Amino acid sequence: MAVGEQEKRERAVTDAAVASFDETKDERLREIVQSLTRHLHAFARDVRLTQEEWEAGIGFLTRVGHITDDKRQEFILLSDVLGLSMLTVGINAPAEPRATESTVFGPFFVEGAPEVALGGDISRGAKGMPCWVTGTIRDTAGNPVADARIEVWEADEDGFYDVQYDGDRSAGRGRLRSDGDGGYRFWSVRPAAYPIPTDGPVSELMAATDRSVMRPAHVHFKVDAPGHRTLITHIFAAGDPYLDSDAVFGVKESLIVEFAEHRPGTAPDGRVLDTAWSSVEFDIVLEPLS
Ligand code: BEZ
Ligand code: FE
Repeated sequence: MAVGEQEKRERAVTDAAVASFDETKDERLREIVQSLTRHLHAFARDVRLTQEEWEAGIGFLTRVGHITDDKRQEFILLSDVLGLSMLTVGINAPAEPRATESTVFGPFFVEGAPEVALGGDISRGAKGMPCWVTGTIRDTAGNPVADARIEVWEADEDGFYDVQYDGDRSAGRGRLRSDGDGGYRFWSVRPAAYPIPTDGPVSELMAATDRSVMRPAHVHFKVDAPGHRTLITHIFAAGDPYLDSDAVFGVKESLIVEFAEHRPGTAPDGRVLDTAWSSVEFDIVLEPLS
């Protein structure tokens, strides 16, 4: 068959599929599904997708769905390793350059984590070197943001979140409020580098494509305050060997911070430690909603 005929036949399928959404009343939905259809068809044409490859793709997505439940979100993980999550973060980044940068949300946030008083310990049984975390929350004009809701979560020294262990134990996560000067402080553990979950279809994809599954050591933050844009971010530990090869592309230079290490002794809040401990400071700038 002439090349022109083949091209015409393929184009006709794409045109029909795109046109089938023409009557969608919701304009934004129409824009999204028509663009998605065009790009999916262009992808299939680009790689000359075989029937077997199409079936393998459907099988893969089916397994992603089957392993997903209310504690395990393999679709988010897939979006993360494809860079789609970070692209979406980038597209929606605040226009304001003074605001703290955002990064990927990840699959391990849990609604309703325990409330912890300022200066309290969010580790609650998570293993690791004690770590004193402090900072202030301000707006882009430099005003302190009092009473901001701060949610933090992190993996233990073995690289696992509480939800990855059997049982319902909550550890390494908590919710705090900033004080009247925008200050916050809590004890936790020094974070460790860890692999993204390695027991599902996404990790099979990583293995098949010879990619590293490691994430550099980090602590997650979600900060909400009325009148301000919600911030979802991490702090990353300076010097971590995986900063340049994060499996989910989440690292930003401005989010890399130094975790100091201290000999046993008295911490700034008066706590006496008989083991080495760590400390880190992270000041947060929220963008006011216009
Ligand atoms: C996380 O940092 O918790 C995470 C983010 C993306 C994929 C897997 C884990
Ligand atoms: Fe994480």
